[in-house]
Amino acid sequence: MRKKYAAGNWKMNKTFNEGQILFSEVTNMVKDELVNPNVKVVMAVPAPYLSSFSKLINTDKVSIAAQNCHPKESGAYTGEVSVGMLKSVGVEYVIIGHSERREYFGETDEFIAAKVDALLAGGLTPIFCCGETLAQREAGIHFDFVKGQFTNALFHLDADALQKVVIAYEPIWAIGTGVTASSEQAQEMHKVLRDHLASKYGQEVADNISILYGGSVGAGNAKELFAMPDVDGGLVGGASLKSRDFTEIAKSFPA
Ligand code: PGA
Repeated sequence: MRKKYAAGNWKMNKTFNEGQILFSEVTNMVKDELVNPNVKVVMAVPAPYLSSFSKLINTDKVSIAAQNCHPKESGAYTGEVSVGMLKSVGVEYVIIGHSERREYFGETDEFIAAKVDALLAGGLTPIFCCGETLAQREAGIHFDFVKGQFTNALFHLDADALQKVVIAYEPIWAIGTGVTASSEQAQEMHKVLRDHLASKYGQEVADNISILYGGSVGAGNAKELFAMPDVDGGLVGGASLKSRDFTEIAKSFPA
């Protein structure tokens, strides 16, 4: 059975003290309340907090993630953080290719592909984000666009490597807007993407890959989304900043 994920993306929110409280609350609630052994809770916190917060983890149901990394091992890349650095402070997952990084920081598929390679070489799990704009959806090119993002950033991998990647489909029009894709829209895209993976790697490999949905996931809509056969969890922004809401999302998977 594919692994299921409730992944929180804090983005650029919370001071150290606020974050410490939130992180501890979620960890404790998840430890006490989450009973599904196939669900992993991941929290992607601001980079300065990674080292400290990784020590607050008191259950293997929770892992800590970074929100970005640089593909090079070391060197003159002011302000950047390498995979080895993240690994050395207990990070297990790294979000890459988020639409905010693609849009505001000009990240290309090629650069993201290099991050995928660096993470896999370092033994960390990439959470690879993809997704279309509203204009692309309205023009009817959304399936081809997101399939292209896969082809450009993932299809150089062999099957073993690909199966170490977690995918997050996040339609840009649904991020931070309160407009969630319907569970049917999410399922439709996830199925298209899984079929796209199957076309290159075969069905068995495609069936092993967790594809999360992101974009205004909350405690009120997670159950419906996670009930879809190809939706393996959520990448959650706003609602991951509230411990009770995020824990409820983690508990929203079918038994
Ligand atoms: P949101 O963000 O849940 O606030 O829409 C999701 C994301 O950007 O990962």
